Amino acid sequence: MTIDYENILNASDDLIELVRNWRNNNNISQYMYTNHYITKEEHYQWLEKLKTKTTAKAWIIQFKRNPIGLVSLSNIDFKKKTTEWGFYIADESLRGKGIGSVTLYKVMEYVFDILHFQMMTTLVLENNSVAMKMYEKFGFKKDIKNVFQIERNGKKIAVFTMWVSKDDWNHIKRKFKNIYNITLGTLNG
Ligand SMILES: CC(C)(COP(=O)(O)OP(=O)(O)OC[C@H]1O[C@@H](n2cnc3c(N)ncnc32)[C@H](O)[C@@H]1OP(=O)(O)O)[C@@H](O)C(=O)NCCC(=O)NCCS
Repeated sequence: MTIDYENILNASDDLIELVRNWRNNNNISQYMYTNHYITKEEHYQWLEKLKTKTTAKAWIIQFKRNPIGLVSLSNIDFKKKTTEWGFYIADESLRGKGIGSVTLYKVMEYVFDILHFQMMTTLVLENNSVAMKMYEKFGFKKDIKNVFQIERNGKKIAVFTMWVSKDDWNHIKRKFKNIYNITLGTLNG
């Protein structure tokens, strides 16, 4: 399985626009904490932040040299050694084939072994059972004191914060090294 990660700051304008289209597609936005339409202006403000600040990073996931999704870190805090993260595979026909697991392994390796952080967190909507199952497989736990609600299509939906620590990673790394550590590179700064 050939999976690579390209820092979005090195991507062409067409690819950057493709990412905006992915993010505005309901097959992605329905799982995201915010689902408003992202204008070109908002997208370029986000890119500007990636260029000028150290608090966020994003990589395009490439499968067999084709762009298929995005993985990102946000609210990176070098003092507390914590970061939030998120990802998606835009091509639905490529979900459920292990690419998400390889990507999560690589993100955890980057956050815990390269940045030497202590914790990573993510927000998961209660109806996203696939993502929740996946996070649990990688040692994430629900922060039950930190649950809030958003409204989607007139319905209230709970949003869970899930977290995983460096200690959890050391365990997960041993468990999954031979299964998911199959891409050569690491995410780069
Ligand atoms: C979440 C997502 C990135 C997972 O990527 P993926 O490549 O499909 O994941 P994998 O194939 O590696 O599967 C990882 C785990 O997810 C769970 N999973 C995957 N597909 C599933 C399904 N159809 N039903 C239930 N669980 C499923 C399983 O726990 C699986 O592990 P297993 O294969 O050992 O049982 C992908 O489904 C996606 O892009 N979803 C939309 C966006 C999104 O929800 N992002 C996360 C926001 S919190």
